[in-house]
Amino acid sequence: MAFVVTDNCIRCKHTDCVEVCPVDCFYEGPNFLVINPDECIDCALCEPECPAEAIFEEDDVPAGQENFVELNAELSEIWPNITEKKDAPEDAEEWDGVENKLQYLER
Ligand code: SF4
Ligand code: F3S
Repeated sequence: MAFVVTDNCIRCKHTDCVEVCPVDCFYEGPNFLVINPDECIDCALCEPECPAEAIFEEDDVPAGQENFVELNAELSEIWPNITEKKDAPEDAEEWDGVENKLQYLER
C-alpha cells in the first residue's frame, strides 16, 4: 500500500508534501509530483500537508482517478527526487479545483 498524488496537484504543485516525508519518496516533474509506491511507508504524514488535497491512500483515490496509481509508479522511476519545498507556480490558486487536469500533465 502507498499514498498517491492525484489530479489536483497538476499545475498547483505546492510541494509542502515533500518536507514531511520521512523517506524522501517524492519525485518531481515539470508541473506535478508523484510518490514512489515501493519507497512510501504509508505513514500518512503528507496527506494533510497538501493545500490542494491531492494526496490519497491508494484505496481512497477518488473515483475516476484510479489511473494515477499506475502513473505515480511509472513517473517516479523517471523523474528526479525532490526533498525541499519550493515556490508553487504563480497561478497555482487559479488551478486549484479545476477538474481533469491530466491533459495538462508535462512529462
Ligand atoms: Fe512519504 Fe509518508 Fe506520504 Fe508515503 S505517506 S509519501 S512515506 S509522507
Ligand atoms: Fe502537489 Fe500537494 Fe504536494 S499540490 S506538490 S501534492 S503539496
